[in-house]
Amino acid sequence: MNWNAIETMDSWADVNPYDVPLDKIDMSRPELYEANVHDKWFARLREEDPVHYCADSKAGPFWSITTFDDIKTVDTNHQIFSSDKSIAIGVINDDFNPPNFIAMDQPRHDVQRRVVAPSAGPANLKNLESIIREKAALILDGLPVGETFDWVEKVSIEMTTYMLAILFDFPMEDRHKLTHWSDVTTSVEAVGNFSISAEERERELLECLAYFEKLWHQRAGNAGGFDFVTMFANHPDTKEMINNPMEFLGNLMLLIVGGNDTTRNSMSGGVLALNDFPEQYDLLREKPELIPNMVSEIIRWQTPLPHMRRTALEDFELNGKLIKKGDQVIMWYTSGNRDASAIERPEEFVIDRPKARQHLSFGFGIHRCMGNRVAEMQLKIMWEEIMKRFSSVEVVGEVKRLPSNFVLGITEMPVRVHAH
Ligand code: HEM
Repeated sequence: MNWNAIETMDSWADVNPYDVPLDKIDMSRPELYEANVHDKWFARLREEDPVHYCADSKAGPFWSITTFDDIKTVDTNHQIFSSDKSIAIGVINDDFNPPNFIAMDQPRHDVQRRVVAPSAGPANLKNLESIIREKAALILDGLPVGETFDWVEKVSIEMTTYMLAILFDFPMEDRHKLTHWSDVTTSVEAVGNFSISAEERERELLECLAYFEKLWHQRAGNAGGFDFVTMFANHPDTKEMINNPMEFLGNLMLLIVGGNDTTRNSMSGGVLALNDFPEQYDLLREKPELIPNMVSEIIRWQTPLPHMRRTALEDFELNGKLIKKGDQVIMWYTSGNRDASAIERPEEFVIDRPKARQHLSFGFGIHRCMGNRVAEMQLKIMWEEIMKRFSSVEVVGEVKRLPSNFVLGITEMPVRVHAH
């Protein structure tokens, strides 16, 4: 194959990764994720070059870490692999990139995380359960049974938007602003999903800041609520953050995106997986008590955030390769979650998989997803309510995906729901 011809090809689905010279493989290409072919490219890297160097890409040079164990090594070694300034490939100071605690190292990271963690902790989960169930019922009862509609728009986006509004105690009537700001935040050239200009992105995010500044002032001095803004505004370690608006905005962006794209795409990905593995759908109908286990399997299967980036603070030898100080290191969770040396039959969706929670989708170490229990609870409730109402959610048309290496996103999924 003439490798250069690939630049002018229409479809990445037809490219055989084994035809491409190893040193030309560039897993930052958003087209690979849009065409949903990345798995076979990662399979080649795991086989032949598990710690792979890409010298030239739009996101700059970077290492790809592709096996389960190596990803854990990097993720748990935060003294060497820094999150400072960016956790997404290629993004550093060239974009409007306000600081937040996912992109910070110790000790600042720990202080800020500790302040808001209770919002997503066990005590608050109990408070949230009934309101989430109420919103799930509202959405599902409004679906047009027997007609074709877009599951992403009518269910996944609606449900996560409610969830975000609940976590922020955000005015419900304005809740769609949160989803919009999340899309704006992740619209960055290096990750692929690039729909607005950098200037427009900055302007929109400053509007988000202005909105939240008002909420902050209403809530400062009024502790007691579990929402993110009340927590930041009233804790001694963060109550001055309002004087550092960029840091406040950065953390808002983190919390908005953290809870949005991830859960949204798990909700769509689960429906798709059950359609692709119909015997698993039968098993679910037979044993709905498998829902909590299935939720973990969905999160592994979808891997909503395919990568996190780190920057090496020192030279480090990993699996026979020398990563140099300053290098960009990409942990491809999506690849680790398909690594047969750690997960049995990883290419199959298995709702009663033993140890289903042992996946990489939430990361490891000090940055492990703060919202993991909230996300699981939301998906569990959603599936419980779906199974009460519908014998199946059938995918009936072409599924469209996001051109992004940072969010494994399903943008459109035509379905029909069938009542019992
Ligand atoms: C299925 C859903 C979700 C997935 C797959 C997911 C995935 C992740 C990943 C991969 C990380 C980084 C881990 C690392 O670097 O080691 C992370 C961090 C984070 N997530 Fe989630 N997430 C999900 C849902 C949520 C929800 C619902 C929230 C709540 C708002 C949330 C808030 C956060 C926050 C605040 C961090 C930063 C933690 C830190 O730096 O200490 N996530 N998430």
